[in-house]
Amino acid sequence: MDASHKQTQTLHSPNSSLSVKTGVGENNLVWYSLHKGDTQLISASTLSLQDTSENELLTFINTPQHDQSNFDETWEQPWGEQRLIRNNYNQLTLRGDKATITFRLFDDSLGFRYSLHGEGSAHIQQEAIEFNVPSDSQAWWIPALGHNHYEHQYVKTPLTGIDTAHTPLTLELPDTSFLAIHEAALYNYGAMNIIPTEKGLRSNLTPLVDMTAGEVPLPFDAPWRTVIFSETAAGLGTSKIMLNLNEPSKIADTSWIQPAKFMGIWWAMFINYYTWESGPKHGATTANALRYINAAKDLGISGLLIEGWNEGWDGDWLQNGDKMNHMLPYADFDIRTVTAYAQSQGIDIIGHHETCGNVGHYEYELPEAYDYYRHFGVRYIKTGYVAPRMTSGDFHSSQTGVRHYQKTVEMAAERKIMLDIHEPVKGTGIERTWPNLMTREGVMGQEYEGGAIDPQHTAVLPFTRLLAGPLDYTPGLFNLSGTIRKVQTTIAKQLAFYVTMYSPLQMVADLPEHYDDHLEAFRFIRDVPTTWETTVPLDGVIGDYYVVARKERGDEDWFVGGVTDENERTLTINLDFLNHHQSYNATIYRDGDDAHWQEKPESYQIDKQVVGHGDSLTIRLAAGGGFAIRISPAHRGPGPQYS
Ligand code: NOJ
Ligand code: CA
Repeated sequence: MDASHKQTQTLHSPNSSLSVKTGVGENNLVWYSLHKGDTQLISASTLSLQDTSENELLTFINTPQHDQSNFDETWEQPWGEQRLIRNNYNQLTLRGDKATITFRLFDDSLGFRYSLHGEGSAHIQQEAIEFNVPSDSQAWWIPALGHNHYEHQYVKTPLTGIDTAHTPLTLELPDTSFLAIHEAALYNYGAMNIIPTEKGLRSNLTPLVDMTAGEVPLPFDAPWRTVIFSETAAGLGTSKIMLNLNEPSKIADTSWIQPAKFMGIWWAMFINYYTWESGPKHGATTANALRYINAAKDLGISGLLIEGWNEGWDGDWLQNGDKMNHMLPYADFDIRTVTAYAQSQGIDIIGHHETCGNVGHYEYELPEAYDYYRHFGVRYIKTGYVAPRMTSGDFHSSQTGVRHYQKTVEMAAERKIMLDIHEPVKGTGIERTWPNLMTREGVMGQEYEGGAIDPQHTAVLPFTRLLAGPLDYTPGLFNLSGTIRKVQTTIAKQLAFYVTMYSPLQMVADLPEHYDDHLEAFRFIRDVPTTWETTVPLDGVIGDYYVVARKERGDEDWFVGGVTDENERTLTINLDFLNHHQSYNATIYRDGDDAHWQEKPESYQIDKQVVGHGDSLTIRLAAGGGFAIRISPAHRGPGPQYS
């Protein structure tokens, strides 16, 4: 081996704040390390990939050809947390005989991926990419490869306490800075999970039932592995690496892709007022649908989800995915009447396809099941895959799952249908390429309220799950203690969710009648946008609290949301994101002085105040509480007056 084979290459980020070193080391494997100035964030870590014949696919026997380049462009999102996104990185490629490894270094993050050369296909057994982070880091994680894909509360443990974790995996480093490990552009491959090693962490792909990671066509570009660095926890959310490492939109005309808020014949099933299945309490009846359409219109919400409308829910529906018929409404649900009335009222119906994880049956129904809805003017569909595994026995995050979800996204795009996927595979930014994939669950969402969700959970998600993109958390519950599900938040915190948890399709989850006594607070839900000009995370401590400000698109209004865990706290919000020399009216929706998620969750207070750049607001958040603020230019007048 000649000396240059061992030569170390260094890549600096555009402003030189981060650097990567890489070279070919032992066993002819490529290693990399990540640095912030003189601080080593990730020590020498190797990249390894084996096929099912135990061949190493990422060996570099001969000296790889190196190439450095840079890139800088700004692109526009049709919807999102920020309209304009800068994509600025320096790139280093190492090209060998069997594979190419590409590093893209941004000022806040590193992305890298391997591309396999050749033709035919490769049978991948397992990937082992090391992330040798400081061993005394703490990790916020949820378990992968278990029963409840992504539907867990996050725990914080030392690295050695990790089992097999989903990404994004967020790390608190011993020097109080932060890393988040994740991936971008996951197509046709098992999702990357993280396991601990003696040296730190390494990757591990979700296997298929045969315990291999799957077969890929050659040549093959693997998904990007990503590492975000931030000095602050709130700063993790400002990195745009995941979107930047995805391809531009494949949908040329995106004008039909429209963010929205929607109510639902939904929560009533969770509190036993209605059922999904037929019978005396059937929720999805024509009469109920018409009533909900009227309610949505009165409340100023443009969409309505209707679940349990189709044959297949009777009996043990979880086991009966093959009986779900997404082209056959129950006899008491007249889809023609409902959709025609909705259209006449300007309300979009959000269709629903629960597959129970029976992907075979669902793919058999598609695309006719999409055409059926489209025929009735339905443009949005929520899909669901409730089941520990798909019927093939594969995990949702396996190559089989990833391929299936992608098929639905592309079939939907052809029909101008927008999707909200429940029980999905995690988000990896493919909504840049397929912006009709608007949101997904992949979280322990409010359907678990009533005991399983601690107040801390929503003060963890902005630093973990939300790094994977839009989240359908189903916010907007106002009746917090009057039903069989005791919700562990205050009303003010429910309002905050519309700002702290981004989704271009945002649910307004409670029953219409549960808003009747709180129309003043509801005003915030009506007014809050679902797509933004810009987003400024202001403050946060993982698991304690989070505050973020967002500016409306095409307008001068700002919206601020803050949430706390089970502890009451007082936060001071600096308003320096406002324009200089302009006066604004702030409408502050905060916890009442006696509010507490257990005792008085429905106590809130609406205050008005004139504010400007240089001012700050000091707000008390109740235990399990939060706040929401709308800030409008003063020249528009004082805004709504209550009483
Ligand atoms: C689980 C989904 O998360 C929930 O929103 C839906 O109502 C049920 N499955 C039934 O499909
Ligand atoms: Ca779910």
